[in-house]
Amino acid sequence: MKLVKPVAADRLSALLRQMPKAELHIHIEGSLEPELIFALAERNGVALPYASVDALRSAYAFTNLQSFLDIYYAGASVLITEQDFYDMARAYLLKAAQDNVVHAELFFDPQTHTARGVSMETVINGLHRACVDAQAELGVSASLILCFLRHLSEEDAFETLDQALPFQEKFIGIGLDSGEVGNPPEKFARVFARCRELGFHLVAHAGEEGPPAYIWTALDLLKVERIDHGVQATKDAALMQRLAKDRIALTVCPLSNLKLCVFPDLASHNLRQLLDAGLAATVNSDDPAYFGGYLNENFTQTFAAGPLDAEHAYRLARNSFEASFIDSATKQRHIDRLDANFEAFH
Ligand code: ADE
Ligand code: ZN
Repeated sequence: MKLVKPVAADRLSALLRQMPKAELHIHIEGSLEPELIFALAERNGVALPYASVDALRSAYAFTNLQSFLDIYYAGASVLITEQDFYDMARAYLLKAAQDNVVHAELFFDPQTHTARGVSMETVINGLHRACVDAQAELGVSASLILCFLRHLSEEDAFETLDQALPFQEKFIGIGLDSGEVGNPPEKFARVFARCRELGFHLVAHAGEEGPPAYIWTALDLLKVERIDHGVQATKDAALMQRLAKDRIALTVCPLSNLKLCVFPDLASHNLRQLLDAGLAATVNSDDPAYFGGYLNENFTQTFAAGPLDAEHAYRLARNSFEASFIDSATKQRHIDRLDANFEAFH
């Protein structure tokens, strides 16, 4: 591991912003800004229960995950055409490029759209075209991870998988999201086993609000390669050892945890504790349009609130590349650039 020189506190924010990084936990529907929601509603003739962009934004006061999900699914109802999905992903990828994100793995929730009569083809083709253009035009590599909604049935997930398989070259992995408590990973054991046979990468949200037991079952029954969130792991010492030993990455989302009241403030967040225990934690934005910031905002606000320094910044950026689903030669290229960036920053 590289030796990282200390950086003066007033320059840490600049370092965090300019270092190259990967984003591994972003729900593309959670990047839909209120302005774009209103523009798409008008384009598609969809009526919204809010009078203005400001009225919508002022509804973003969440008390827990479910209070957010209700508004998030309503916001996604303006997405109808392939161009809508393209425009949404393009807007996110432009922000990502500005934050020096060089690689992004985007979650999408097809059931939110197919349940409204939008075809799987429309969803995937729009998102995928934005990913292809981002590589060519912005120098950002981007791939897609299809998430099953865990509040729906396993049968619904199997049906969704069937609908998506004709487009299987356009997404690289499978995830599990939506309301966690009461919907444990084991509910989806068989459909994840099928996805594993098909060769997809596997991830799952676990230990966001749910107990450490959900992280154990995501690992042992779903056989996921990364845990999304995972911040409840600190309540279980044996689980912490397992995550450290197997280098299972956690895609932590500090501003999301703050806005959904998982922690009372960023100073109380356990990111530092996860890193100190040797876990492969990463920083991500989750649903940036709803939680007050994209990736660099997550980095700068978290570092401003807590005892984190340049060494932690390096480890978080390096973890983001190591935990990504890119080939090992490209990973090494990104890490070499990261090292050069830290060398030059003085
Ligand atoms: N879908 C979008 N954001 C989510 C989150 N933070 N947890 C679970 N499901 C989600
Ligand atoms: Zn998430």
